[in-house]
Amino acid sequence: MENVLDIIKTRRSIRNFEDREVPQEILAQLLEAVRWSPSWANTQCWEVIVVKDLEIKKKLQETMGKGNPATRAIVEVPIVIGICGKLQSSGYYKGEVTTKFGDWFMYDVGLATQSLCLTAHALGLGTVIAGLFDHDKAKAVLQIPEGIELVSLIPTGYPAKGTGAPKRREVSEFTHYDRY
Ligand SMILES: Cc1cc2nc3c(=O)[nH]c(=O)nc-3n(C[C@H](O)[C@H](O)[C@H](O)COP(=O)(O)O)c2cc1C
Repeated sequence: MENVLDIIKTRRSIRNFEDREVPQEILAQLLEAVRWSPSWANTQCWEVIVVKDLEIKKKLQETMGKGNPATRAIVEVPIVIGICGKLQSSGYYKGEVTTKFGDWFMYDVGLATQSLCLTAHALGLGTVIAGLFDHDKAKAVLQIPEGIELVSLIPTGYPAKGTGAPKRREVSEFTHYDRY
């Protein structure tokens, strides 16, 4: 197995893709990665929509925010993965919020998203997480019921070309020992 840190460090947001299908067994591994992600009290609040239909992708593309660099990728890729979260589950106990942060669904779907994107990268696929779009319009396009929110759209396919890594803060800039 490749070093996990190498996988984490070499994953990039990919916005240009080859015209090449993603085999079902590869997709199955991405979904398996979501399945084994950690979640609040193992609530597993994620729901995943795999979009392959070009007409639906075109409708999703119309919901993308102005100037979003991932807009073209939505219709270029073989699959767009919609990551959704069930509300009032993560962070709740017997129907009541348990922390000052309320609903933890964004946290849990974020973890699941990272599992998916790292697994995709380890399998030679590229992904870009898109969060800047009209969530209500996209939710309607995907016919998502009340109580479930679409959080991100992840165009997924084989990368056409690599991109450089955007600069990161140094570890020393964000790490605190003992006190902030
Ligand atoms: C929650 C979230 C939302 C994002 N939304 C978008 C987006 O709408 N469009 C886009 O092109 N990239 C989007 N990105 C990708 C980031 O721009 C990217 O991860 C960041 O610039 C670091 O680059 P890297 O992923 O190549 O390391 C998003 C990333 C995250 C985590």
